Amino acid sequence: MTDHAIVDLARRLPQLRLLSEPGDLEHYGRDWTRRWTPAPRAIALPASSDEVQGIVRWANEHNVAIVPSGGRTGLSGGAVAANGELVLSLERMNRVLGFDAVDRTLTVQPGIALEAVHGAAREHGLLYPVDFAARGSCSIGGNIATNAGGIRVIRYGNTREWIAGLKVVAGNGELLDLNRGLIKNSSGYDLRQLMIGSEGTLGIVVEATLRLTDPPPTSQVMLLALPTMDALMDVFALFRSRLSLQAFEFFTDVALKHVLAHGAQRAIDGDHPYYVVTEFESPDEKTQDAALAAFEHGVEQGWISDGVLAQSDAQAAALWRLREGITESLAPHKPYKNDVSVRIGALPVFLHDIQTLLAREYPHIDVVWFGHIGDGNLHINVLKPESLSDADFIAQCEHVTKLLADTLHKHGGSISAEHGIGLVKRAYLESTRSPAEIALMRGIRQVFDPLGILNPGKLFA
Ligand code: MLT
Ligand code: ZN
Repeated sequence: MTDHAIVDLARRLPQLRLLSEPGDLEHYGRDWTRRWTPAPRAIALPASSDEVQGIVRWANEHNVAIVPSGGRTGLSGGAVAANGELVLSLERMNRVLGFDAVDRTLTVQPGIALEAVHGAAREHGLLYPVDFAARGSCSIGGNIATNAGGIRVIRYGNTREWIAGLKVVAGNGELLDLNRGLIKNSSGYDLRQLMIGSEGTLGIVVEATLRLTDPPPTSQVMLLALPTMDALMDVFALFRSRLSLQAFEFFTDVALKHVLAHGAQRAIDGDHPYYVVTEFESPDEKTQDAALAAFEHGVEQGWISDGVLAQSDAQAAALWRLREGITESLAPHKPYKNDVSVRIGALPVFLHDIQTLLAREYPHIDVVWFGHIGDGNLHINVLKPESLSDADFIAQCEHVTKLLADTLHKHGGSISAEHGIGLVKRAYLESTRSPAEIALMRGIRQVFDPLGILNPGKLFA
């Protein structure tokens, strides 16, 4: 990007806020991956769709790369700007634009935090159900860009399920109004759905209409300790058959060790290799009895070794903290993250295969397993040993990820379940998508963004 281009941008959009101080470039140039050195050329903070459109048109004329930017809580490098790009931050476009009581939709700007969306829905007695630990910092635009999942997918599905309409500035500068909140719309290709999960490579969301639903009935939270990984799927099948699950999350003793060292409270005594936090709807005493009966059955079968049922909201929050605090507790160890999925039915064999693989490849390295096991989604975090340099550690992890990708391919799984491909997993896209699919994906990108100005280098190698 030339100085002349920047001067032209400021001339065309005189109200546009532009930043270029070193601290700003550093702040806006990185996401929660810490592998790349941020090096954008400038940061633009538009306040309206018109300004976003103006920036994209300007970028096409000057052939400038744009990195769309939300809360930058992503874990795959999708919002990293390390090559002199213009970061287009949507953080000033963070308002609720409207609520429709008949359609039960909330229309928001993309920079609004997920937690603020939850709050706005609650004010109207309704629920926006997508939820995960980064709720306070991530933005809805980023959730849409990655089709974010989280802890309640088992009950409500991914972000994709909750988007009734999108206004998008495509890479070619066109403003598109996609689906307009319709429930039924059988009029050809659903371009709204194409935008969801496109990681900022097709267009920039400038407005989203979100579906809301009834708040769930009262729920209860239980922590279970399990003796083996095989027992995980047995306990899942047992609980799912008897209860209406809101969440079914697992983590290992290694994850627990880190989260306890980070200030969480131990809830079950003794050493157990695996844990599950489950939340289930419990509108009456009958469901509570059903939960206790399921628990007892699991103990009799030898699948469950211990458990605790939260007796208060505070205790439920403390149990959730054991699961939701994991990412933060691992951050100082510079984890290499894998976020993989297989069909739930394929999980037992897949778990067995990757246990063998990881034990062989990482005999002396801490590997932390956790995730949304009820959705077939595992987070496998490899912690950097102090003895290894960053570069050697990444090289070793890349080698193992290749083997993991081969195993996923064998099981029909995905190299990214909910974090996106970004920079981190672009070399492994072929393990999940066929050459024909990738060729079509590239063709679609070409249609929306012929000059490839939006998030270049992300998603495709
Ligand atoms: C989670 O499930 O906690 C998130 O996907 C974050 C992570 O994988 O670290
Ligand atoms: Zn997750």
